[in-house]
Amino acid sequence: MTEVKIKTAFAAAHPNIALIKYWGKSTRDGHNEPAVSSLSITLDTLLTETRVRFDPQLDDDIFLLNGKQDEQKLSRISRNLDKLRQLAGVTTRCEVASSNNFPTAAGLASSASGFAALVAAGDRALQLDLSFAQKSMLARSMSGSAARSIGGGFIKIALQNSGPEDAVFGRAFAEQIAPAEHWPLEICVGIASESEKAIGSTEGMELSRTTSPYYDAWLAGNDQDIADAEQMVITRDFEKLAELSEFSCLKMHALALASRPGLLYWSGATVEAMHCLRDLRAAGVPVFFTIDAGPQIKAVCAPGYGDRVAEALQSVNGIRRVIRCGLGCGVRVTD
Ligand code: PMV
Repeated sequence: MTEVKIKTAFAAAHPNIALIKYWGKSTRDGHNEPAVSSLSITLDTLLTETRVRFDPQLDDDIFLLNGKQDEQKLSRISRNLDKLRQLAGVTTRCEVASSNNFPTAAGLASSASGFAALVAAGDRALQLDLSFAQKSMLARSMSGSAARSIGGGFIKIALQNSGPEDAVFGRAFAEQIAPAEHWPLEICVGIASESEKAIGSTEGMELSRTTSPYYDAWLAGNDQDIADAEQMVITRDFEKLAELSEFSCLKMHALALASRPGLLYWSGATVEAMHCLRDLRAAGVPVFFTIDAGPQIKAVCAPGYGDRVAEALQSVNGIRRVIRCGLGCGVRVTD
């Protein structure tokens, strides 16, 4: 093992939101492998920018989030850095400085964009030249959804396509189904709360796997949901994708709600917003909702309907603000 001279690199990544949700981890291994396949869209507007600096003067890794040292998240960051160091054959410690232009750990997939940016910046700084799939697997080992932020547009992690287990990388990785230009959907994110969520997804997933009576049914329906959703994306069938995405979202939350103790990620405003968006759809506006492990509501609408949907969402009691997004690109090195 050697020490490298100071090496710096910058990367930027966007969060993604799953239309076919991932909830539950495989029990087979230690690589944070998902128990189900998932399908997502990568957003633009919301952004994580990360700088890594491998520096032989450092005694320990350091993590700065939005300019402030964050000890709590450091151990996860260090585990990711250890994998990068192992691949490069170096021991040099690293300072990671990351900033988000949106609330962190509040169900807006900051861990997805965060780990995707970290892997891409680390790859560049240590000159590893990892492939798309390898970057996706390294990001996945820290946060399942981060595997999908390596790519842009429409992305899936299909467990059926995973290769044999690799000692460093594990198995599951993301692939692009279609680029953003294929179908420029618009997304309105309704912010119901800016505070960090009480129960993180890793803990929540484990609780659901071990206690929710719906877990086996959740696993059983996944292959069909993925195959159908991919087809709907390819054929740009909004109506069918709307129905299936809401089904996947509500199924995930039913699974979580039926855990013991039940995981209730919604606030009153989340529920009000679901009704509002369903009423809009009934009135002919092509829109559907999806919600992750937090109270924020994401309204996905057909191209050209963003203004109408944003206005409706903004009028929901308890929705503090609405962030408008389109579909974005994958992670990129920015120096
Ligand atoms: O990647 P994690 O561990 O933050 O889990 C993501 C879980 C959901 O956002 C709720 C669903 C998904 O597929 O992104």
